[in-house]
Amino acid sequence: MSSADPGGGQASPFSRAELIQLFPTCIWVHEVKEAEALNARLLPAIAALERAQPLPGAPRNAWQSSDDLHQRAEFADFARLAIGAAHSVFSFLKCRFEEIYLTSCWANVNRAGYAHHDHTHPNNYLSGVYYAKAPARSGGIVFSDPRPQASVLAPTIEQTTQITANVHRVEPQAGRMILFHSWLAHSVEANQSDEERVSIAFNVMLHGAVGADKARARM
Ligand SMILES: [Fe+2]
Repeated sequence: MSSADPGGGQASPFSRAELIQLFPTCIWVHEVKEAEALNARLLPAIAALERAQPLPGAPRNAWQSSDDLHQRAEFADFARLAIGAAHSVFSFLKCRFEEIYLTSCWANVNRAGYAHHDHTHPNNYLSGVYYAKAPARSGGIVFSDPRPQASVLAPTIEQTTQITANVHRVEPQAGRMILFHSWLAHSVEANQSDEERVSIAFNVMLHGAVGADKARARM
């Protein structure tokens, strides 16, 4: 923290000031190296699925596949990539586990005007989204502050920073994979382009013995 300065140009009465940042909300953003080649395989596979799995009741500007893509041969490369990214997150968190696995994985094709409300992904530990196609203005993903009490009093902020923001937007980009805790609420902005945005979402869960002592479970 730079300011032991009490403001108003007065000399600071403090010899030292420390900022302790606790309980952070993490969002892990990965850029896939061979994204162009990967997307050249994923996009036709998703288009074929959309033809094979019509959704009569769904809005015309949104389509979602079945959630078993990780079990299909044409998405095996993608599933390996997603679980690899999850492993790197668990490693970062220094989190010990017996096994992690994809519980679900599905494609989304969102066309002009489509937006998605704030939601979480229950019964999972990590969630992620990968963009196979993300034209400009096709809608970012917006994460919401998980501390509702933080907005009980909302003074005017002259310049919003990551400390004071209550939402955080991540720009979609072809080849970008974003992971976050499944409890973190997020929404998707409306697609304001004339083209479709194509993404694959996935959920990751722990398997086997979890925790210790009186917080022990077998998942
Ligand atoms: Fe989601």
